[in-house]
Amino acid sequence: MSTQKLDSIKDNALAAFKAAPSSKDLYDLKVQYLGKNGSLTEIMKEMASLSKEEKPLFGKKVNEVKQLLEGAYLEAEEALKKKEISAKMSAEELDLTLPSYTRSRGAQHPVYMVVDEIFQIMSRLGYSVRTGPLIEKDYYNFEALNIPADHPARDMQDTFFIEKNPDILLRTHTSSVQVRVMEKTQPPIRMIMPGRVFRNEAISARSHCFFHQIEGLYIDKNVSFADLKQTLLFFAKEYFGTETQIRLRPSYFPFTEPSAEMDISCTCKGKGCNLCKYTGWLEILGCGMVDPNVLDFCNIDSKTYSGFAFGMGIERIALLKYQVKDIRIYSENDIRFLRQFSSVL
Ligand code: DAH
Repeated sequence: MSTQKLDSIKDNALAAFKAAPSSKDLYDLKVQYLGKNGSLTEIMKEMASLSKEEKPLFGKKVNEVKQLLEGAYLEAEEALKKKEISAKMSAEELDLTLPSYTRSRGAQHPVYMVVDEIFQIMSRLGYSVRTGPLIEKDYYNFEALNIPADHPARDMQDTFFIEKNPDILLRTHTSSVQVRVMEKTQPPIRMIMPGRVFRNEAISARSHCFFHQIEGLYIDKNVSFADLKQTLLFFAKEYFGTETQIRLRPSYFPFTEPSAEMDISCTCKGKGCNLCKYTGWLEILGCGMVDPNVLDFCNIDSKTYSGFAFGMGIERIALLKYQVKDIRIYSENDIRFLRQFSSVL
């Protein structure tokens, strides 16, 4: 009797395991047949009514069925898993309407977009790029640029000095790279030098304790002020538009003689606007003929060679190009600001 019952449990369980439509159903069947209160446990209880000889035989049979069912369960589970995964995969494969994972795209920083564009323009005149260290020796930042220790021009640039060694400072301008270039290179030299500079100034919408500059340097035989003017005019028209006009005002820098500051015509075309403070002109850079003293400092023969240099603040150029008036926003890394430049270029 019990043996018959056991056989039918076995057959039913095997058939049910095979036919289970899902892993969840299969698990429920496992509990039903092999669980603590399942059919096999139940049937063991019937052993009590068997004779002494029948008991071990029946026990052995129950164990065999148990093992068989456990094996069958694992097999069925494996088969179901495979079926479920392939069903899931083919469903996914076919659903072409599912949105893809979005990846946020980076954007070039506006400061370096300006640098890139200036480089594109100047490279057409044969200029290449050089960079130099941000932590600089007094010699490169001041001394070799014709600004000795007691020179009042040092006050124009509020310098961050390294406390333990006042000979070392954070460079206040990219003009220091001019010296490094001239020291190592004999003319002809045509280079632009972009980078970060530091000044000990209060932070406001118009000034920051760090910002960026780009320096230009041209040294060769017979370079004249006319070459400087023509180069800057070319640059201004290429960068700001062909209608742009330039104006050079006499100025003073210790490392250039003569020196000038260059303005470009405002887009308001002289009508007057807030940006140009109703003057029609916007100041964008300092420039001049490299002082022969500086050439000599760098072992370039000032009797044979002459040259010009210019330097401008990149954030200021970016302000004019992108109309962003607060200089602080360029260094805040605010993703909402930076993202707006991902489609420019
Ligand atoms: N270094 C100057 C400054 O930071 C800018 C400058 C002026 C650079 C004239 C030059 C130059 O190369 O010729 O204000």
